[in-house]
Amino acid sequence: MAPPNDPTTDPSVQDLVAARPWLEYDAIAGLVLDDVPLAGIADTVGTPTWVYSAATMRARYKALTGAMNDAGLDVHVHYAVKANDSLAALALFGGEGAGADVVSGGELLKATRAGIHPSRIVYSGVGKSQNELRLALSEDVGQINIESAEELEMLSALAAANDRTVRIALRVNPDVDAGTNDKITTGRATDKFGIAYDDAVALYAKAAAMPRIEPVGLAMHIGSQILGLAPYRQAFNRMADLVHTLRHKGLSVTTVDCGGGLGIPYRNEPAPSPAGLAAAMKGAFHNLDVRLAMEPGRWLVGPAGVLLASVVLVKQTAFEPFVVLDAAMNDLVRPAMYDAWHGIVPVSAIDAVGPARRCSVVGPVCESGDTFARSRLLPPLVPNARVAILDAGAYGAVMSSTYNARPMAAEVWVDGGRWSVIRDRQPIDALWERERLPT
Ligand SMILES: Cc1ncc(COP(=O)(O)O)c(C=O)c1O
Repeated sequence: MAPPNDPTTDPSVQDLVAARPWLEYDAIAGLVLDDVPLAGIADTVGTPTWVYSAATMRARYKALTGAMNDAGLDVHVHYAVKANDSLAALALFGGEGAGADVVSGGELLKATRAGIHPSRIVYSGVGKSQNELRLALSEDVGQINIESAEELEMLSALAAANDRTVRIALRVNPDVDAGTNDKITTGRATDKFGIAYDDAVALYAKAAAMPRIEPVGLAMHIGSQILGLAPYRQAFNRMADLVHTLRHKGLSVTTVDCGGGLGIPYRNEPAPSPAGLAAAMKGAFHNLDVRLAMEPGRWLVGPAGVLLASVVLVKQTAFEPFVVLDAAMNDLVRPAMYDAWHGIVPVSAIDAVGPARRCSVVGPVCESGDTFARSRLLPPLVPNARVAILDAGAYGAVMSSTYNARPMAAEVWVDGGRWSVIRDRQPIDALWERERLPT
């Protein structure tokens, strides 16, 4: 895999677009997403604006479930709401038959609001509050993934007090390094997530003896943007061993939740396929007679979104020019937070074929980290030109903030050749509407 900031391996604008069939250049209309010109959306809604391809999300859901079916696996998919929590995306996946993986009371309520039945919701997360657990009990969610002995005690007391029986899985930390960015690795023993592998059997037995607690199985999640299958195989095998041990002790294990994390080729790099993941799941679990589940987020929605932005100005320097956009790290924080690489392509077809030269693409926020690309080979961009930042459908709008008093960008949904605004741009006075001067 190319090092994250090695510009010599950057794919060209043409290579990036060719690898994403939902995007195409039209000589006149410029960059189109599912036949809808992005320039038209920018003219009407302004920039910065997120634009999502519903068809791409649908196709990816079908590709993922199809790969599982082809491998002879009946896998229950719980869409990881954190990746993109727009009601439109939740309703789309719910309509396709997915459940939801949620990590907060807010996500739980959003998922049900979008029509996903609570029985198809799995509640994960390392620090669910008492109020959130009460909400999960009153909604009677399908499964709560327990992350610590302390949480199990808390839930047991709440379940008894509320006279509810709750299905739980133990989220086990398999102590496997997923080889991804340190900030999104979750399955090493030193990470805050899950129950230590060696403690899992004793805690499972304890849970089975608790009133109002019904342990149904195990869960794991080793990280996000995982670009190899070896860590999955290792973790799945450890989970399969645990299922054997638990059953040997007479404990019932009916389900294994295999987590999410499948990476996407932001830089056109090789990335694992759903078929590869299915083979890894089958290899570990085929003879265990367990109901398999998974919680994918990024793989389903990441490639389906772009962040549309306009060039404010091009600042010439003694080194390379800075192309300053009207989008910033408050909109898309992944480059600043994870040194993430995102493709950037001009919206105009004429701009796209200009001679490439090196520049840095930055936002206007007062931090040097507000940099989308450093020393990137791009065709010349002039003030008011539009660009699309690619693969921004996951961990994009959901992670945005109003830092530097910048309102949250609009979100647009493209489906069947038409587009509609699914979230209005935040009005400027909304920035202070919930504030008061102290009395
Ligand atoms: C518990 C859990 N499940 C699922 C996901 C989704 O991961 P991804 O978007 O990489 O598929 C995450 C993300 O970190 C997670 O923490």
